[in-house]
Amino acid sequence: MCGIVGYIGHREAYPIILKGLKRLEYRGYDSAGIALYDGCDIKLSKTKGKVVDLEDKLLKEIPTVGSLGIGHTRWATHGVPNDVNSHPHYSNSGNLVIIHNGIIENYESLKTELKNRGYSFKSDTDTEVLINLIEDVMKNDNLKLGKAVQIALNQVVGAYAIAVFDKNKPNEIVVAKLGSPLAIGIGDDEFFIASDASPFIEYTKNAIYLEDEEMAIVRRGKDLKIRKIKDDSLVDPYIQELQINLEQIEKGGYDHFMLKEIYEQPSAIKDTYRGRMLVNEAIIKLAGVEDNMKKFLNADRIIIVACGTSWHAGLVAEYIFEDLARIPVEVEYASEFRYRNPVINEKDLVIAISQSGETADTLAAIKLAKSKGAFVFGVCNVVGSSIARETNAGAYTHAGPEIGVASTKAFTTQITILTLIALRLARAKGTISSSDFRLYLMELEMIPEKVIKALESEEHIKKIAEIYKTTRNFLYLGRGYNFPVALEGALKLKEISYIHAEGYPAAEMKHGPIALIDENMPIAVIATKKGHYEKVVSNIQEIKSRKGKIIGIVTEGDVSVRELADHVIEVPETLEALSPLLTTIPLQLLSYHIAVMLGKNVDQPRNLAKSVTVE
Ligand code: M6R
Repeated sequence: MCGIVGYIGHREAYPIILKGLKRLEYRGYDSAGIALYDGCDIKLSKTKGKVVDLEDKLLKEIPTVGSLGIGHTRWATHGVPNDVNSHPHYSNSGNLVIIHNGIIENYESLKTELKNRGYSFKSDTDTEVLINLIEDVMKNDNLKLGKAVQIALNQVVGAYAIAVFDKNKPNEIVVAKLGSPLAIGIGDDEFFIASDASPFIEYTKNAIYLEDEEMAIVRRGKDLKIRKIKDDSLVDPYIQELQINLEQIEKGGYDHFMLKEIYEQPSAIKDTYRGRMLVNEAIIKLAGVEDNMKKFLNADRIIIVACGTSWHAGLVAEYIFEDLARIPVEVEYASEFRYRNPVINEKDLVIAISQSGETADTLAAIKLAKSKGAFVFGVCNVVGSSIARETNAGAYTHAGPEIGVASTKAFTTQITILTLIALRLARAKGTISSSDFRLYLMELEMIPEKVIKALESEEHIKKIAEIYKTTRNFLYLGRGYNFPVALEGALKLKEISYIHAEGYPAAEMKHGPIALIDENMPIAVIATKKGHYEKVVSNIQEIKSRKGKIIGIVTEGDVSVRELADHVIEVPETLEALSPLLTTIPLQLLSYHIAVMLGKNVDQPRNLAKSVTVE
């Protein structure tokens, strides 16, 4: 995720763009840049770091004059966050400049073709490839910018929201969208461009949200024309009157970042498998795994190190790696692993999981494992983070920035990438048949739609939250793949509502926790159809006999649990190994709504921080 802003009109562009970037920083904040047309030339300044760092640097580097400009705040995907990889990017001639939010998946082949035609590249980004492709089309066919953008985008595979201008035509900005958002604010003889409406809400309430595969040329003092990128047909612009206030927009219309992030899971999961899983070809391609396949295949065992929610994702991975790839797995709290004297050597493969990539204990565990000769593979969300740099190889989740302290989309995207790795290894080892492999890919591809379906239970979950919001204790039970989900459900409730909650494997209940059960104890039981369904139903009967209050997380259409439970929340059916991606959704919503009803600070719970960079 990145934020893009642009302005063309009669005001000074710089203050509008700078303020707009600050509002869009939730979309990414590892680097930022602004390009202004000063009346003769393009003046550009960019830097690694936040928008405030850019502000300091830019004021020393360039004049802030001009009524046309574009700006970008980056959340790196291709290329580590540094000054060079920051946007905007020039074309080779220096005439064109671009900002881009999204991923150009076929950038490597385009880059090779452009290199063969004499283009050179300063950055590692896919965006610099796109601007040079546009320039190439423009030069070869002697076209205007708008037409060249259209032709170039028809050669591109991936997602984009872009804004481009040409210093030789300084009265227009060309914008286009596919997959990433792009809003155009319409003022009096002026246009605003942004990833969402927050950068221009105080200037105009009139906005157009471009649809996928649409482009527009915004011209100073002229009417806006929108076209379809594919067939050049004109589109009637639909101008919306914005009903929202600034506060809402910054959270994308949600009351809290946590809720927004819960709802981002369908797209975050898709972004994580996109380009890595080719369902029709039945292929999984993960560069970090392919390049180190021997290490994976020769490993005696896999040791997973992580903390908190990432540790729970590791537990899910333990089931799937052993189940599908038949590799022994141990899952360790990084904080324990680093301080005992683990038996570990060069035949071990360590997977470190971390959303932030900055967790001190996980970082220390990685260093320890490396010092003992193990190969360490990282699963991180934040590009260029310390853990991403310290590990020998890795794969990023593409969850986008997670701002709410309670991890939600980080968890499901970690499970997604770990599932891809397990499946890839299972294929390489021959421990999965080609038909099962294909079935997994097809089911995984359907998960985002099924998450959307699971999210539809929110109103029903709110009613359950209302009933249990004053309880002081909560139990969460699950078996097999859903035991870690029980732990994660309990953690979510604890950290944002401060209600004491414990997660247990359902069968462990009778070895102690069953003593806690009476009519005042709510127990969330994950009882989906696949796996150990009958056994979990027996556990539910044991709770029922002791008058516990049962909230069953069940597969759509379930009958048996419905007869026993006080409440049921349905999730769509899927393969057992993929069920945590669905069963975790109602538990996130339950803890969210209980915390909101209790008036807690959901996004910044007490005593916690988003990344724990100290021991
Ligand atoms: O950034 P990491 O994934 O390394 O963070 C690990 C834990 O600190 C984190 O998952 C924490 O438990 C979350 N607040 C849970 O919601």
